[in-house]
Amino acid sequence: MKVLAISGSTRQLSTNTALLRAFQALAPADIELDVFDRIGEFPVFSPDLEGLHTPDSVIRFIEKISVSDGLIISSPEYVRSIPGGLKNAIDWLVSGEAVIGKPIALVHASHRGEDMLAALRTVLSTVSSNFSESIFFRLPVMKQTPDSIRESLMTSANRPAAEKFLKDFAAFCRSQKSEAANAIAI
Ligand SMILES: Cc1cc2nc3c(=O)[nH]c(=O)nc-3n(C[C@H](O)[C@H](O)[C@H](O)COP(=O)(O)O)c2cc1C
Repeated sequence: MKVLAISGSTRQLSTNTALLRAFQALAPADIELDVFDRIGEFPVFSPDLEGLHTPDSVIRFIEKISVSDGLIISSPEYVRSIPGGLKNAIDWLVSGEAVIGKPIALVHASHRGEDMLAALRTVLSTVSSNFSESIFFRLPVMKQTPDSIRESLMTSANRPAAEKFLKDFAAFCRSQKSEAANAIAI
């Protein structure tokens, strides 16, 4: 199973990116978890740039989403909402088919950010019919280094919940895949 883990932060020492990378170390052999931390490369979305004019960076992003069985997103809150870069990346997906029906779940690297989470949940349940609000994992590691985040995820206090999150999300992805296959067979 292929899972694309998208960071909503473009910061080099991002805690959200670090948390997604820490998940890579936990993922079982049957989950290939690819971390995407390059939303900062996309130009500001405009319908005028779609179709033949779609930038290569965006085309590659959409291809990664198309071949994935599910998306995990982890994002900071900026000014009580979704960071512009992440919203821009989502805007690039709206007129295509890659994200429709794609299983999506959130992880979160802060003890704060409820307004961003609420806004992101609204946006993701609009762009995909398979956004899961109930499959969610939070590790409050704001301002910590990538090394300490990895260590924190691996502790006996946090690892079981992180593994359960991955297991639940993988099961959700599989169930949506088999529902889609059954719908095609009918
Ligand atoms: C421009 C800016 C605006 C922010 N606004 C908020 C905010 O409204 N609420 C909040 O809880 N944190 C806010 N923060 C803090 C970030 O959400 C927080 O530091 C987060 O953990 C950064 O994630 P990262 O390490 O993945 O970049 C803001 C940070 C920046 C740079």
